Amino acid sequence: MIVLGIESTAHTFGMGIVKNGKILSNIKKTYTTETGGIIPVEAAKHHFQNKNEIYFESLDKAGITEDKIDAIAFSQGPGLAPCLIEGLNFAKELSKRLSNSTTSLTTTLKKIPLIPVNHCIAHLEVGRLTNAKDPVMLYTSGANTQIIAYSSGKYRIFGETLDLGTGNFIDTFARFLGIGFPGGPKIQQLAEGSEQVQALSSKNREREEKNYIELPYVVKGMDISLSGILTNLKQKIDSKKYNKEDLCYSMQETVFAMLVETAERALAHTGKKELLLGGGVACNSRLQEMCKIMCEERGAKLFVPENSLLVDNGAMIAYLGEIMFKSGIKILGKEIEKLDIKPRQRTDEVEVSWK
Ligand code: ATP
Ligand code: FE2
Repeated sequence: MIVLGIESTAHTFGMGIVKNGKILSNIKKTYTTETGGIIPVEAAKHHFQNKNEIYFESLDKAGITEDKIDAIAFSQGPGLAPCLIEGLNFAKELSKRLSNSTTSLTTTLKKIPLIPVNHCIAHLEVGRLTNAKDPVMLYTSGANTQIIAYSSGKYRIFGETLDLGTGNFIDTFARFLGIGFPGGPKIQQLAEGSEQVQALSSKNREREEKNYIELPYVVKGMDISLSGILTNLKQKIDSKKYNKEDLCYSMQETVFAMLVETAERALAHTGKKELLLGGGVACNSRLQEMCKIMCEERGAKLFVPENSLLVDNGAMIAYLGEIMFKSGIKILGKEIEKLDIKPRQRTDEVEVSWK
């Protein structure tokens, strides 16, 4: 069984090939900008222009020819409509071409079904590769910030951002600092340059609070809100009273503490003993460290997939696609034409019939 997965919810066009739960290839190309954020139609154009190259590279890396593909999974939502459409159209095009294909040597009589995959759930399900069995997932990416766990037939959202996704928040903050997109990795570097962190790693490891700049801490029930913190940071940058390093450090300590607090309460509420990280922001080593401390303190275990599976990628779509296919979920024939994208699909709308 070989499944091709297509990811195109936002700035990344990714393709992955999975065979019986094993990732054979995971190739992606990401649309970036020097200044300013993502322009959806430009990102969609990027995906259209790069899709064939990524497809053939994926086949090459996996060491297979295209006639070996049994099914095609694609990200149906949530995401930016123009970007999602590129992924869906390519999935339809490939399914048509690979079904009943005739070469000079062979005639293939197989039909290649499509499998519509929810992007957020794919982030969670690919965590099975880390051996997490029934985790609470802290999913923090560009557009999304959710705490998700399985309960009675669905993946439920236990907490989420009320406004900005953490990654988009970090990227906007980075733009205010004039350090380009994506901002996460650069902010992490700057934060590590704060005198406070240097003090922490010094011999006596005594916590010196002097470089922590007070920021609003906004947790509402199980949800968080980031737009007020962004305004506050902007005012602090404009005042020119603070250095970049300390602002980055203080932002990370504050916002990550909000994420860790809500994730911990979801663990307490569900009684689950595993925390899984997902999404690009989870590449941040300070966030990972804070999650690890929290898990250790409450006897839970932390699972962190490798970076290439944390960020948007096609392998996670193929991985969940294969699980769904094996449980009988597939779209064939005329039904394929009727398939559409779901830009606003919510995690808890999806019937999880494969578990
Ligand atoms: P979505 O999953 O919501 O469609 P996306 O496509 O933006 O969103 P990802 O590829 O998962 O998501 O994540 C990209 C985000 O991760 C960017 O906002 C980027 O700044 C952030 N990011 C990447 N590395 C780090 C890091 N080390 N620290 C903090 N943030 C990071
Ligand atoms: Fe994502």
